[in-house]
Amino acid sequence: MSGVSERVPQKTFYLETFGCQMNVHDSEKVVGTLVQEGYRQVPTVEQADLILYNTCSIRDKAEQKVFHRLADFKKLQLQGKKFGVLGCVAQQEGEKIFERAPHVSLVCGSASYRNLPKMLVQLDAKPVEAGKSESRKPDPASLIRITGLDDRQTDQCFETEFTARSNPHRGYITIIEGCDKFCAYCVVPFTRGKERSRTSSSVLAEARQMADRGYTDIQLLGQNVNSYKDPEGKTTFAELLAAVAEIPGIKRVRFTTSHPRDFGRDIVEAIDAVPTLCDHVHLPVQSGSTRVLDAMQRLYTREQYLERIAWIKAAKREISITTDVIVGFPGETENDFCETLNLLEDVGYDGVFTFKYSARPNTPSLSLHDALPQGEKSRRLEVLMARQKEIQLQRYAKYVGTTLEVMVEGYNQPRDQWIGRTSQNKTLNFTASPDSAPKLGSYADVLVTRSFPNSLVGQQAFGGSRWK
Ligand code: 5AD
Ligand code: SF4
Repeated sequence: MSGVSERVPQKTFYLETFGCQMNVHDSEKVVGTLVQEGYRQVPTVEQADLILYNTCSIRDKAEQKVFHRLADFKKLQLQGKKFGVLGCVAQQEGEKIFERAPHVSLVCGSASYRNLPKMLVQLDAKPVEAGKSESRKPDPASLIRITGLDDRQTDQCFETEFTARSNPHRGYITIIEGCDKFCAYCVVPFTRGKERSRTSSSVLAEARQMADRGYTDIQLLGQNVNSYKDPEGKTTFAELLAAVAEIPGIKRVRFTTSHPRDFGRDIVEAIDAVPTLCDHVHLPVQSGSTRVLDAMQRLYTREQYLERIAWIKAAKREISITTDVIVGFPGETENDFCETLNLLEDVGYDGVFTFKYSARPNTPSLSLHDALPQGEKSRRLEVLMARQKEIQLQRYAKYVGTTLEVMVEGYNQPRDQWIGRTSQNKTLNFTASPDSAPKLGSYADVLVTRSFPNSLVGQQAFGGSRWK
């Protein structure tokens, strides 16, 4: 079945991705696998024979999105198109998806992606009848029911040499999949299975291959990236960070997401020692109240979290810190919420992703009494976001007048501005004279002239002191 012919492949697919960076990167691997199997990716649903959604189920809203999409495009099945649901909703809902959306013929959780070539052959062998009535029940034989429900048993990672990276300069490498933490609110341990790390040899081989292909910016991924344990026992997580960052040609290495419980001082020491390790740590706190953290089963107290923050702040480099916060977890009092608000002040985050608690299937917190009215959850979310905006306004303002190095990621034509990203992961939009217009993927020094709560603005600089 494999082997791409010289002519343009006939079978076409469209893939839309929802959710986190892990899903974005899984999609790059799925695209590579499909192309290898003779499919061609197309930019619209209308052009595609096979329509795939790589889904997210972290919050109810994310999950509903895919069912809305499937409902929107149901009529396209009449033109012989096939639909597949991949990712976390596939894993969580399994065969129930066929009942809810009978025009779906493939359901595949992330632990089954390595079986995709086999599944595509099966799918190919079962053409959708053109003109089939919408109301008719699907022929059970036309459903591909591989759902990867054995996820928590698997020891395997989804590795492929065919990853179709969507950016030629910066790319992801998954180093650990799954999660063994079981926070009370979270579906991930159920949808992505148990924790399993790749060998450091295979991670380093992939990183070297990327460097050879011209990549300069690598982001190491994992649900709990710093829980990484080398199956070969050769390196710790911090050593792996340093080893990737020291590969010739690599200019920036990031890692996300870190769990506070497994966050060691050696990570900060590595950032201090290796300039190509980016000066940014994303360390989700979820709540500033030890009482709520305990109910969330987060495995640390407010004080222990702040101890890690103190390590980061004691670094020689100024390390930017960002976080995730959930408001309205069952039992969260006004006092608990105020503790989260004052934690924002204590830490001084450069970015906070804020979420309203969403009850999820299978999770321990589903059985807790969720008494807080939606209106109150929304109020807390707004108060938190407003406070954080003020904090960021101040924090971003201090960069005005300094020069920062950015990777050039894009160009905004209407504004005639280049879009850059700093090592600290801040967006820095800048102007450059036409004769020195930077290339995408190159690095430029930019003098910061203005600041906003979420971005900086500047002009390309030649010489001058650099803020580091
Ligand atoms: N409700 C609200 N937010 C959630 N998150 C995870 N599960 C839930 C949930 N059930 C948030 C956490 C996590 C981020 C990726 O999503 O803040 O860090
Ligand atoms: Fe979910 Fe907690 Fe695991 Fe993160 S550590 S993926 S929040 S269960």
